[in-house]
Amino acid sequence: MTAQNDTSSETTQTLDDRVNNRSHRPNSQAFRDFVAEGWDRTPLNAEALAAAGFTPARRAAVSAAFPGERLVVPAGGLKVRSNDTDYRFRAHSAFVHLTGLEADSEPDAVLVFEPEDDDTHTVTLYFRPRAGSDTVEFFSDSRYGEYWVGPRADLEAMRTMTGIATENSATLDDAITKDLGSISVRLVRQADSRIDSVIDLARTQVQADLETSEAGDAELTQMLSELRLIKDDHEVAALREAVAITRAGFDNVVAALPKALEHRRGERVIETAFETAARSDGNGIGYDTIAAAGNNACTLHWIRNDGVVSPGDMVLVDAGAEADSLYTADITRTLPVSGTFSDVQAKIYDAVLEASDAAFAVAADHVNREVRFREIHEAAMEVIAARLEEFGILPVSAAEALSPEGQQHRRWMVHGTSHHLGLDVHDCAQARAEMYLDAVLEPGMVFTIEPGLYFKTDDLLLPAEFRGNGVRIEDDVLVTADGVENLSADFPRTRAEVEAWVQGR
Ligand code: GLY
Ligand code: MN
Ligand code: MN
Repeated sequence: MTAQNDTSSETTQTLDDRVNNRSHRPNSQAFRDFVAEGWDRTPLNAEALAAAGFTPARRAAVSAAFPGERLVVPAGGLKVRSNDTDYRFRAHSAFVHLTGLEADSEPDAVLVFEPEDDDTHTVTLYFRPRAGSDTVEFFSDSRYGEYWVGPRADLEAMRTMTGIATENSATLDDAITKDLGSISVRLVRQADSRIDSVIDLARTQVQADLETSEAGDAELTQMLSELRLIKDDHEVAALREAVAITRAGFDNVVAALPKALEHRRGERVIETAFETAARSDGNGIGYDTIAAAGNNACTLHWIRNDGVVSPGDMVLVDAGAEADSLYTADITRTLPVSGTFSDVQAKIYDAVLEASDAAFAVAADHVNREVRFREIHEAAMEVIAARLEEFGILPVSAAEALSPEGQQHRRWMVHGTSHHLGLDVHDCAQARAEMYLDAVLEPGMVFTIEPGLYFKTDDLLLPAEFRGNGVRIEDDVLVTADGVENLSADFPRTRAEVEAWVQGR
């Protein structure tokens, strides 16, 4: 099914112009009259979103940080995949955090904080409301018309869902550019390139210094990123749900291992086994699944997933389901395909597990002393360096490797041990270092612990028996008042647990 253009469309969108040559749609006035009549237009039965009780506090924090300034937070628009086919929509995480909108809502929407004299803001959600069945859009617009994309919210329904005042986006450009000479505006850039252009043009017209303006934009983006460092109860619940869906996905993966062994692209069998659960029970995947057998596990971003899975391989599966709330899990398990780790695989696995345990222990120690985020990685690295020394792999002592000038152990684990997790898999990425790496752990932070060891087949510094094996163990962790909670605690994790899992016990 493809879109067919109504050449006299009154809508502003141009997507269908690309398929004029294929249009069979009748365009007579008689047809238009006929197609517009006889539809049940009972208003949508909207309910407040689950997040609506939490988003006012988030918006209040943003408002307090930028008194007297206009703030513009776009959701982003649909991205063309080819011709009249778009990618599935996923809104910018800052927009989701402040509106609570879920799943595929709401392309082209923009949240605007308009400053008031008393240093507060009036917050308005601009979006494109549903068009009546008597409009051309209803039946001829393949991007927004309800005939094509299903029921859409009107202004009232969106207000009920989000608890935010709503306006038709027809008035948006004026709302975000008016009085720009006398009012300062900050924009979350690169969420919606059209909005970037509208603001840039308006700034040019009032001869604003573009460099200073963009620095101000970056401060807004940074603040919105830092606002998400501590998760509220709704976010923690959403992350738990994402982890639970991910757990079901990993069970599908384990069940699919025999089929993966038989298939010429066994890694794809594993990838799709996971994604069946992610999509049916959630919104989809939070990032591209890594299904990496044997040596492919040593390619950190192995998302091609087109390799064979052979008996005796370990397969590294790094996968996260994104719940409808758009929060994602990020879990890695490394599975012995035939049900038992070989001796050398067991040595590698246990070293990584020990590094993970050390990282958990230092994080939990925050109840006794101030623990900085960077210490989690450092704790894991101490174990990794010590085990590499013990295996006779490290060319220097572990102590020397751990010095800033050394770091030889990082050859076999170049990535970090932890990152914040939330709406984005690498959440809060625009936060300043003092708020991230150097920050003291606080209840409500959620991050991964994910040490690994990667021994590539072509690494001539390695004893032969180690080559072609990669292990990562990745868990999702919530900092609590009395320690840490492993949100992925019901995933098999020790070597014996993982073997029993694969063996179906
Ligand atoms: N899956 C990406 C990561 O583990 O950071
Ligand atoms: Mn991760
Ligand atoms: Mn991961």
